[in-house]
Amino acid sequence: MKVVLINGSRREQGCTYTSLMEISKVLKSEGIDTELFFLGVKVIDGHISELLDKVEEAMKDADGIIIGSPVYFASPTGELISFLDRLFMKANASLKFKPAAAITTARRAGTTATLDVIHKYFLYNQMPIVSSRYWSMAFGNSPEEVVRDEEGMQIMQTVGKNMAWIVKSIAAGKAAGVKQPVAEPRISTNFIR
Ligand SMILES: Cc1cc2nc3c(=O)[nH]c(=O)nc-3n(C[C@H](O)[C@H](O)[C@H](O)COP(=O)(O)O)c2cc1C
Repeated sequence: MKVVLINGSRREQGCTYTSLMEISKVLKSEGIDTELFFLGVKVIDGHISELLDKVEEAMKDADGIIIGSPVYFASPTGELISFLDRLFMKANASLKFKPAAAITTARRAGTTATLDVIHKYFLYNQMPIVSSRYWSMAFGNSPEEVVRDEEGMQIMQTVGKNMAWIVKSIAAGKAAGVKQPVAEPRISTNFIR
């Protein structure tokens, strides 16, 4: 089993990475592999298509996805939003019905607005959202600070435990013959009869 992790920060090994690694540790202890993708500035430097292809490919045999972003101006990073806008148009079939979690890190404010933006991609695409014991956030400006947020680290560990439980439950359901819903073609209207 595998869960894809997306780091939407411009810093490769900052607070978001540290939080994702806390989740990854728990997933690995549950026998679940993780595959990490770092967006950085590549997304706005002409490499978005390359990354989209890689993540789409990874999602084909993944059981779940966790998307992390630092708060930038009370929102996810512009890089992450650009990436998700494209990913959810291009790769919606390989994402659909897979459990998903959003996590965020911040110095101080804008965390729930950031989670809300990321959750909306999941909600649009029939993806069960995996929660934690609080809203999934940790505070700090540096990896050293974020690991000192004891509650934040516990929240990340809980995301890992809950994700492991959900992906294993879905696999057990499939093995027992529980069928995934069939995604019907969308009735697309603009409120016009
Ligand atoms: C461009 C920019 C904008 C930021 N805006 C906010 C903000 O609105 N609220 C906040 O609490 N922190 C803000 N921060 C701080 C980061 O969210 C915080 O340091 C985060 O943990 C960094 O995660 P990272 O190391 O994974 O990049 C901002 C940082 C940058 C670089």
